[in-house]
Amino acid sequence: LMHNIALRDLNLNYVYVAFDILPENLKKALDGIRVLNIKGINVTIPHKRKIINYLDQVDPIAKKIGAVNTIKNENGFLIGKNTDAIGAKLAIKDAHFKIKGKKVLILGAGGASRAIAFSLASECKSITIANRTLEKAIQLVDDLSQITEVVAKCIEFKSNIIEEVLESVDLLVNTTPIGMYPKIDDSPLPKRVLRKDLFVFDVIYNPYVTKLLHYADEMGCKTLNGLDMLVNQGSVSFEWWTGVKPKKNLMKEILKRALKK
Ligand code: ATR
Repeated sequence: LMHNIALRDLNLNYVYVAFDILPENLKKALDGIRVLNIKGINVTIPHKRKIINYLDQVDPIAKKIGAVNTIKNENGFLIGKNTDAIGAKLAIKDAHFKIKGKKVLILGAGGASRAIAFSLASECKSITIANRTLEKAIQLVDDLSQITEVVAKCIEFKSNIIEEVLESVDLLVNTTPIGMYPKIDDSPLPKRVLRKDLFVFDVIYNPYVTKLLHYADEMGCKTLNGLDMLVNQGSVSFEWWTGVKPKKNLMKEILKRALKK
């Protein structure tokens, strides 16, 4: 929806469509893109990590993150980038949260978590990763510690442990799908663990206001949903593929309207 409206607005003769690809067909799908001369693609769950193995070139930041969400096809040569990272950082900055020197807690250790953690690591003071599968959090913390200067640690995904850490945290980011449509009454954390001076960023955009963000609102926290990150990553990808900057407001408005329906 957002790409097609931006393409029409700029009178560009492209169309953006969705394909459902099974994991075992990933390599074949990329070969198809090469021979059909599709200009570029986005990649989403569950292919963002595996796809790196099949690309001809991967941008150094995407390599660090270990996930690619955007691919450009240059005459059959496929280049991968990660625009989620820049998209998230821009969204947080646009929401007037100053990252510099702040303590961050991220729930989840998948592709989105890795992109956000690496994008914040150059400015924030510390990052704590809470994940259901502790090994994945340990891996992310190891990677962050090796590549960046940030103080990184991990904890188990348990309310009482998270509650303790939250006492000294400035920014809470949810990258798990808990609370995503259709399970909109779920929340990764209970309301009582939130504090007024927390900034709460939920990367989910459907529903527009998740249960976690409702709780955060009720507690007086500043909040941000995943829509700006979605639009920002899309806008950066769009410009890379076409060489033209799309109108972000137009992209955001059409999504907002669709999501609020
Ligand atoms: P994305 O690309 O959106 O980050 P992902 O890579 O599949 O998606 O990562 C999803 C994250 O949400 C993972 O950290 C996952 O935890 P596990 O590593 O234990 O799988 C986390 N997650 C998903 N469902 C969850 C649940 N019900 N409770 C807690 N964490 C959950």
